[in-house]
Amino acid sequence: MAASNRRHFLKKSAAGVAALSAVGYARASGANERIAVGMIGPGGMGTAHLSTLLSQPDVVISHVCDVDRHRLAAAVKNATRHGREPVGVGDLRRVLDQREVDAVFIATPDHWHAPATILALDAGKHVYVEKPCSHNIREGRLMIEAARRARKVCQVGTQSRSTEMNMTAIRMIHEGVIGDVLCVRVWNSQLRRNIGRAKPSEPPATLDYDTWVGPAPMVPYRANMIPGAWRWFYHFGTGDIGNDGVHDLDVAVWGMQITTHPSTITALGGKYFFDDDQEFPDTQTVIFEWPSVGKNNQKKQLIFEQRIWTPYKMEGYENGCAFYGTRGLFLVGHAEGWRLYGPRNKELKTTSGGANLVAHHRNFFASIRGTAQPTADIEIGHLSATLAHLGNIATRVRRVLHFDPKTEEILNDKEAGPMVRRQYRDHWATPRGV
Ligand SMILES: NC(=O)c1ccc[n+]([C@@H]2O[C@H](COP(=O)([O-])OP(=O)(O)OC[C@H]3O[C@@H](n4cnc5c(N)ncnc54)[C@H](O)[C@@H]3O)[C@@H](O)[C@H]2O)c1
Repeated sequence: MAASNRRHFLKKSAAGVAALSAVGYARASGANERIAVGMIGPGGMGTAHLSTLLSQPDVVISHVCDVDRHRLAAAVKNATRHGREPVGVGDLRRVLDQREVDAVFIATPDHWHAPATILALDAGKHVYVEKPCSHNIREGRLMIEAARRARKVCQVGTQSRSTEMNMTAIRMIHEGVIGDVLCVRVWNSQLRRNIGRAKPSEPPATLDYDTWVGPAPMVPYRANMIPGAWRWFYHFGTGDIGNDGVHDLDVAVWGMQITTHPSTITALGGKYFFDDDQEFPDTQTVIFEWPSVGKNNQKKQLIFEQRIWTPYKMEGYENGCAFYGTRGLFLVGHAEGWRLYGPRNKELKTTSGGANLVAHHRNFFASIRGTAQPTADIEIGHLSATLAHLGNIATRVRRVLHFDPKTEEILNDKEAGPMVRRQYRDHWATPRGV
C-alpha cells in the first residue's frame, strides 16, 4: 500500500479498528500494516468472505467490485459496518490499478476465476480465488505460471485444507492408520433443485451483463441462470463435480498423497432426473486411475459418484470421501466430521465439526506476510480442478480418456482433446496463451 494512501486509510478506519480489535483476533505475527483487500464478486460466497474478513483486525476492505449494482450497493453497505466505507466499482480493473490494494478475493462465477486471477497477479496483487480455480485445464496451468511469474501468493478457496479436523484426519492417514490407501470413493449427494426453463430475455438494467459474460462466448441472458444457477451451464460453470465435488476430490488427492494428474479416466452420466435448462449431469460416476504413484509406487483409483436428487446421505454424510486402506476405512464427511474403522468394521474413533473459513483466510494472510505457506496453493487447486474437468469431459464423450499428466493433453481423441481449453470471445480479460 502506498504511504499516503495508507495514512488516509488508517485515519479513515481508526474507529473500525477499535471495533474490530474488540472481536479478539490476535494480530498476525510481525504485522505492522493492515492488508488492503479488494473483494471481487460479493455475491453468495463473496458475502460470506466479507463478513469473515470484517472481523480480522489486520485486514481492511478497501474496494468491493460487482457487475450487479444491487449487489455492489449491498456489499459497500455491508463492508461499511465498522465505520469505514470501501470504494465500490463495477469494473475489476479499477481495483487492480489501485496501488493501495495488496490482495484480492475473487468470488465471481467460475468462468471469471482464471481471467481475473491472471490479471490480478500481473498487476502485482496476492490472490485468493474461489474453487474450482479454473473453468478448464489450460487456464489452471496459466494461473500457476502467472503466480510464479508475479511471485505472489495464490490461494484457492478449498478451506478444508486449513481446517484442523481435516488436517488431523489426513495426518493419521499419512501416518498409516489404515495401511496403504489404494482406492478412494468421493460422493456428492447434496440435494439440488429444478431450475425450470426460461426463454432468453433482456437482462435487468442493474446488471452489466456484458461484463458478467466477460471473455466467455456471448449467449443471451436467461432469468434462471443468474445468480447462482450459472453453475449448471457449460459456458460459465463446471457442474456439481466442480462446485461441491471439487472439495472432496481435493481431500481425496491430499489423503492419497498424489501430486500428479491421473493417466486414465472413464465416466458415465447425464441428466437422469431434472427436466430443465441445466446442462451438466445430475447423475455422474467417474473413475480415475494413476499408474504408479505415492511412496510405494502403486496403482491408485479414485471413484467419484454424484446423485444430486436423492435425500439419502451416504455413510451419513451428504458429501464425503471414503479412504479404503489395507487395514481399515477412513470416512471424511465434507465439513461434517470423520469416522475411523479398523478391521471387521470396528469403529475406532469419530469426530464432528465444520470447515474453518477463518483459518483459511488466516493462512492466506500469513503467507502474504511470509510466515506460512499457502495450504491450498494454486498448484494444489489445479490438481483437484483438473479432476473435475477431466470427469466432465469423459462424461460428455462417454469413453475412456488417456491423459498425459506432463503435457496436460488428452491423447488420440479428436473430440475430447480440444476440451482441455475453451472458446473465448475477443475481450480485454481473455488470458494470453489460451
Ligand atoms: N469455498 C466454498 O465453500 C464456496 C461456497 C460457495 C461458493 N463458492 C464459489 O464462489 C464462487 C461464487 O459463487 P456464488 O454462489 O457466490 O455465486 P453468485 O452468482 O451468487 O455470486 C457471484 C457474484 O459475482 C458477480 N460478478 C460476476 N462477474 C463479475 C465480474 N466480472 N466482476 C465483479 N463481479 C462479478 C456477480 O454479479 C455476483 O454478485 C463460485 O466459484 C463458487 O464455486 C465457494
